Amino acid sequence: MMIKQSKTVFVHPKSNYIRIKFVKMLQENVNLKPYNTFGLSIRTKYFASFSSINALKSLLSEVKNEKLLILGGGSNVLFQGNFHGVTLRNEIKGIELVEENDKNVILKVGAGVVWHDFVMHTISNGWGGIENLSLIPGSVGASPMQNIGAYGVEIKDVFEALEALEIETGKLHTFFHEDCQFGYRESVFKKELKDQYIITSVSYRLSKNPNLNTSYGAIEEELKSRNITHPTIKDVSDAVIAIRQSKLPDPKEIGNAGSFFKNPVISQSEYEALQRQYENIPSYQVDENHVKVPAGWLIDQSGWKGKTFGNYGVHKKQALVLVNYDDAKGKDIVALSDQIIADIKERYNIVLEREVNII
Ligand code: FAD
Ligand code: EPU
Repeated sequence: MMIKQSKTVFVHPKSNYIRIKFVKMLQENVNLKPYNTFGLSIRTKYFASFSSINALKSLLSEVKNEKLLILGGGSNVLFQGNFHGVTLRNEIKGIELVEENDKNVILKVGAGVVWHDFVMHTISNGWGGIENLSLIPGSVGASPMQNIGAYGVEIKDVFEALEALEIETGKLHTFFHEDCQFGYRESVFKKELKDQYIITSVSYRLSKNPNLNTSYGAIEEELKSRNITHPTIKDVSDAVIAIRQSKLPDPKEIGNAGSFFKNPVISQSEYEALQRQYENIPSYQVDENHVKVPAGWLIDQSGWKGKTFGNYGVHKKQALVLVNYDDAKGKDIVALSDQIIADIKERYNIVLEREVNII
């Protein structure tokens, strides 16, 4: 494997300006603290970022036999220790209008675009569909990985297609909606095709006459408190941002990766049995036979909320969020999540599943 160093030499402009640039490709033994929102200080054997498909291809040809990790914003990963492989950070930018008619636009977006920047771009153009997904950290490329969702909307609702490079062959493939097997915090890329593709762009269909989705209780309350009766997509986005800021810790201040666990989906009969015991248990009907129960409520009721173990713990305002207060170790946070899983199983006979990707 070739490790190239970055070096730029500037000579006085009047004496034949010469600029020699060695492209920085792989750096060795890099601390990933700035690249994961848990703020864990861990090292990767090699690190590089790429901003084009060609750059990605040439990197892949350099690192053929190494373990690979693709990172976007690092907001849904938890490192248990150093990563003994190559971390490649996606920085492919660009937002392209590929189709437009009276009703819709289709935008093809580089996987390395920051998700919230893209949401703001759509709002400033009056294109609706993802305003409820404002302020979700991370990159566009990761948005299909777990079919990101919030406040009654998921990206599957606006998803058109994505392009991804197959690691094994170096070929670019297009995946349409039906290929992605989107589910609640799920897609084919977390299951059968795990670690096989690198998403390079995602296309979304947005609406010029959007139907606003304000059915999620907290949004309506927030709009009401602002005396807004006829909201625009910008109003909905502002309301979502305010709600999120009041509940979720800002990773710049407290290390975290959002909800650590998924909300469990249980059968109607299991839910009714629980309801007989805990009459205030909140729930969302998924379909005729299934109910989603908030894991945050289960963990909160079990006394974990705000519990701190030295430099890590369960967030004070949101029991579903595990936090790194200062230089915690990833494996301690995983051990805490194991204890929570065991406790919830014992109390409610529900097995919590982690949302965060453990590396
Ligand atoms: P990363 O953490 O970098 O990667 C996540 C996974 O995807 C890893 O397995 C990685 O290898 C893989 N991956 C990343 N990019 C690519 C690519 N281009 N190709 C192939 N694989 C790739 N999520 C929600 O759904 N809803 C929320 O409301 C929400 N709120 C959050 C709030 C906070 C405060 C935080 C910290 C997180 C929240 N999350 C939420 C989780 C997170 O923001 C999303 O999962 C986001 O999509 C992760 O993007 P990322 O670029 O940071 O992914
Ligand atoms: N609750 C408690 N105590 C807590 C936390 C929550 O009792 O400490 C109760 C709340 O009172 C409410 C219910 O649990 O009745 C749900 O709470 P909230 O509305 O805060 O949402 P959540 O279920 O904790 C989910 C998503 C979030 C998403 C929000 C808004 C999952 C795993 N999490 O959280 O997504 O932003 O709804 O739609 O589905 C993420 O995936 O990282 C994430 C943050």
